[in-house]
Amino acid sequence: MDGMIRTPISDWPEADALVYDDGVKARTDHLYARVKDVVTPMEWPVFAPLIDAINRLKTERGAVILAHNYMTPEIFNCVGDITGDSLKLAQVAAEAEEDVIVQAGVHFMAETAKILSPEKTVLIPDMKAGCSLASSITGADVRAIKAAYPDLPIVTYVNTSAEVKAYSDICCTSSNAVQVVEAAAAQWGVDTVILIPDQYLARNVAAQTDIKILTWKGACEVHEEFTPGDIDELRAAHPDAVILTHPECPPDVMARADFAGSTGAMAAYVKERAPKKAILITECSMSDNVAVENPGVQFVRPCNLCPHMKRITLKGIYEALRDMQHEVHVDPEIADLARASLQAMLDLPRLATPPHFDTGKAAPAAAYVSV
Ligand code: 13P
Ligand code: SF4
Repeated sequence: MDGMIRTPISDWPEADALVYDDGVKARTDHLYARVKDVVTPMEWPVFAPLIDAINRLKTERGAVILAHNYMTPEIFNCVGDITGDSLKLAQVAAEAEEDVIVQAGVHFMAETAKILSPEKTVLIPDMKAGCSLASSITGADVRAIKAAYPDLPIVTYVNTSAEVKAYSDICCTSSNAVQVVEAAAAQWGVDTVILIPDQYLARNVAAQTDIKILTWKGACEVHEEFTPGDIDELRAAHPDAVILTHPECPPDVMARADFAGSTGAMAAYVKERAPKKAILITECSMSDNVAVENPGVQFVRPCNLCPHMKRITLKGIYEALRDMQHEVHVDPEIADLARASLQAMLDLPRLATPPHFDTGKAAPAAAYVSV
């Protein structure tokens, strides 16, 4: 086991005591070469000792780091073992072989990992990494919806708490929302489905299908900030650019874009089509990470920061692994129910490439559940 660190937990130094020495430099230079266009030379001596320590600690703890596309580039590219959108991270969490999962993402993602792999230790570097969608609805709200609409399936976005998933019928992500809504309608033999809690995602999905959708007044605080005027200004300033949006954006924003899809779908589009210039209407770190993969593409970077995603830092990941701290627990009864909703989603046929939303289709007005 050459190269493996055997230092007991307490012997790992405080994060601030890690130094950028010749050994760290030699072990991390190849990683800097990867991110040099999105991480400045001034930042690297601060990041490199943490990256080196995290990568060595991972081996010692038998841990895997799952990193969402919105992680900052030094996390995403230098310590993330598996990277991707919410659906991919859930699929990987269900199949992970390592005993320890560190979720470099927000709390609902860590909870999803714990629900799907209950025997594993799931750590999150910061317990306060929430989500405006997850906090927009409670398990009690979903029970009230169920009581009011007993004959309609409840499709719940994964950006929700375990309790909300537990009282729902099936989960979805932005990578499979249309597929899940249509499958749920077919299975229940109905023409209307409840899709909660993101009202914009619900309307954008409704534009893609004949199934009628009732929703909830939740929104992503990052994507709801983009306006049609933003897109018009960008289009005028960069007529040669391809504009890509996330389906958590309001429909009048999505309608002005050339392409819409999950973060995984956006990344796949840029990789496959290699446009000369691209504009990603989404969270800020996404462009940095897609730029690393696609050095030939020029990116214009309008963006909104997700304050919850940004709570995850290299220091936090190091401390989580060093002290095995911030373990995520889910009540076993709730976890069993929530697992059924997640599993119903994971059991649907896997699509080779994340599907996109047709931005030319008009979204209907929002129709909300009344409870
Ligand atoms: P996806 O990665 O599934 O597109 O989700 C985006 C998001 O906002 C996650 O919080
Ligand atoms: Fe939630 Fe939006 Fe942040 Fe994703 S980007 S975690 S949906 S607030």
